[in-house]
Amino acid sequence: MNIFKMKSSVAVFIFVSIILISMTIQQNPVKPWPVPDDYKNMTNPVEKGESSNNAGKALYDKYCASCHGKTGLGDGVKGRALKDFPGDFSGEYYQNQTDGEHFYKTKVGRGEMPKYEDRMSDEDIWNMVNYMRTFKKAD
Ligand code: HEC
Repeated sequence: MNIFKMKSSVAVFIFVSIILISMTIQQNPVKPWPVPDDYKNMTNPVEKGESSNNAGKALYDKYCASCHGKTGLGDGVKGRALKDFPGDFSGEYYQNQTDGEHFYKTKVGRGEMPKYEDRMSDEDIWNMVNYMRTFKKAD
């Protein structure tokens, strides 16, 4: 038997195995993330509307979409490589939370979710919170 042929078939076998294994690796589902009451019940100081959405979109596309995906499905290029699923912002679990909960989680972060409190003003975060509401699935 040609030794070169054998090696390449081994290589093909390993390659196919890696693909199959990586297809079955699942990301950890979203774990409950408790938010302190004073944040949960916070009033969003930034009025929802086109101007806030535009400001929020510019920031979101730049800082968040790589993980959370352009439309918030958690399917950004970087997001798919994370251990934890970043969440589906169009779904009920996300959309049923208060603005204050979204604000808190963006501000303080957890695990692979970076914290933005040192990098962005509160107003920037509220603009993104408003923009991320637009990912809601149509009822
Ligand atoms: C490096 C990847 C990464 C980036 C960049 C990132 N996130 Fe996240 N985000 C995550 C992960 C992972 C989680 C899930 C964390 C957990 O549950 O422990 C998450 C969770 C969240 C949650 C909570 C979701 C829920 O369903 O409760 C919000 C809100 C959020 N991110 C907003 C943002 C915003 C806004 C930005 C940009 C300013 C951003 N994230 C940037 C990875 C990222």
